[in-house]
Amino acid sequence: MTYVDGAHRWCDRTEAARLTTTQHPPGSQGASGAPSPVNRRAKRTTFPLVDLYQTAVGKKWVMAVTGIALMGFVFAHMFGNLKLYQGPEDLDKYAAGLKTLGDPILPNSMVVWLLRVGLLVVFALHIHSAYSLTMMNRRSNGAGGGTRRDTIAANFAARTMRWTGIIVAAFLVWHLADFTWGWSFVNPDYQYGAVYDNVVASFSRPAVAIAYVVANLALGVHLYHGSWSIFQSLGSMSPRFNPRRNPLRRGFALAFTAAVVLPNISFPIAVQLGIIG
Ligand code: HEM
Repeated sequence: MTYVDGAHRWCDRTEAARLTTTQHPPGSQGASGAPSPVNRRAKRTTFPLVDLYQTAVGKKWVMAVTGIALMGFVFAHMFGNLKLYQGPEDLDKYAAGLKTLGDPILPNSMVVWLLRVGLLVVFALHIHSAYSLTMMNRRSNGAGGGTRRDTIAANFAARTMRWTGIIVAAFLVWHLADFTWGWSFVNPDYQYGAVYDNVVASFSRPAVAIAYVVANLALGVHLYHGSWSIFQSLGSMSPRFNPRRNPLRRGFALAFTAAVVLPNISFPIAVQLGIIG
């Protein structure tokens, strides 16, 4: 690679792991005579997609494609939540409309449940591919070469993604307990179906409002790094990839992140300021 970026170098070292896998047939032994940790992973199955997923390139694709799907979700969710500014009637009608999508042609709530299961699968694959790429990367430490500076940048990007990812996942559990499951110790004033009132009740508590702002800033760092790295990762597999367009790619990553995060953090702030309430 002729260009260096923290997040991308992170992927490059996993690429080295993939190359190591192909240089030694699965099950073969390393120079010391013991099976190398990388080779141990590459068992062939009868499913080509599973075989592809065992390689770093396959995992990168899964992480990128699920990342794009999650970007679509967070954008659509933010856009729907803008109805908070239109008042309780509009937001509650919108939320009820989401639950009855496909009615009366399809069975009650079928579409929303299909979307939920899809989202869960996408989320699980995103986390699994990220985790196993990190493990592959650790096993291949040193195999990819690169300068010490690259390695430091790569480690920084990897750590940033890991920690912001963990914060967002923890936030999500709280968030579901807050607005979807309505757990009383998380949102004591929760009422089923009263989406607007539930949001206002939750964000009226300063500690919760601050936690939402912090979690959404972590989401922003994750989104910015992630969307930029998707472009690098998928783009560099194309023979027509032009690193000169990197400023444009960075610009898109920044604009997309701002478009999601700024409205999201405005909601708890607006409730605290009495603009929504
Ligand atoms: C401050 C910003 C946010 C607000 C005001 C908000 C608001 C809400 C509300 C009101 C619901 C419940 C909807 C209903 O019961 O119909 C909900 C559900 C949900 N939110 Fe958020 N949300 C925010 C940010 C996020 C973020 C950043 C994520 C993802 C990282 C997220 C993921 C979800 C998910 C997965 C559900 C469950 C959807 C379902 O299965 O019904 N939200 N959100």
